[in-house]
Amino acid sequence: MSASPEPRPVWIFGYGSLVWRPAFPFAQKAPGYVVGWARRFWQGSTDHRGVPGAPGRVVTLVPEAGARCWGMAYLVEPDRAADVLGALDHREKGGYARHRQTVFRPDGTALDEALLYVATPDNPNYLGAAVIEDLVRQVRASHGPSGPNVEYVLELARALRAMGADDPHVFELASLLG
Ligand code: BEZ
Repeated sequence: MSASPEPRPVWIFGYGSLVWRPAFPFAQKAPGYVVGWARRFWQGSTDHRGVPGAPGRVVTLVPEAGARCWGMAYLVEPDRAADVLGALDHREKGGYARHRQTVFRPDGTALDEALLYVATPDNPNYLGAAVIEDLVRQVRASHGPSGPNVEYVLELARALRAMGADDPHVFELASLLG
């Protein structure tokens, strides 16, 4: 009989609300970035920052050669990993797939591999690209069980600025909403 594998600690990389509100227990956190992904407000939210029929806009990642997406990596202890991942899978049941990516520290050295959630274009809440004026209109108009969509954008921009990260897409939207 083979022994079941030892539970292992897991890094989770947050690039959306997890950047400023992780909502799970963690042992360590580290700012950093992943490569080859760009953050975009292309996912509709009908359960957090909007409602069915009037979705808000939240971020997902889209593949883009050479792009960097800054966020926060969290190390979850082995005995908590299954529960945390189960809760995130449930919370993000609206169409996100898990990926594994190397996270780099701000100085460019590799931190570790981490799991992150990416909304797939075929999910029912996916909205895709929009001109900035439409993003502003939709975010201003949207509210959901987790609060106003504007708060989501401004909190994300604030947290990214605090870590010295650059993200023109987030900062442009935040400055038009602020
Ligand atoms: C995040 O905050 O990084 C996030 C979490 C779940 C799905 C998408 C993004």
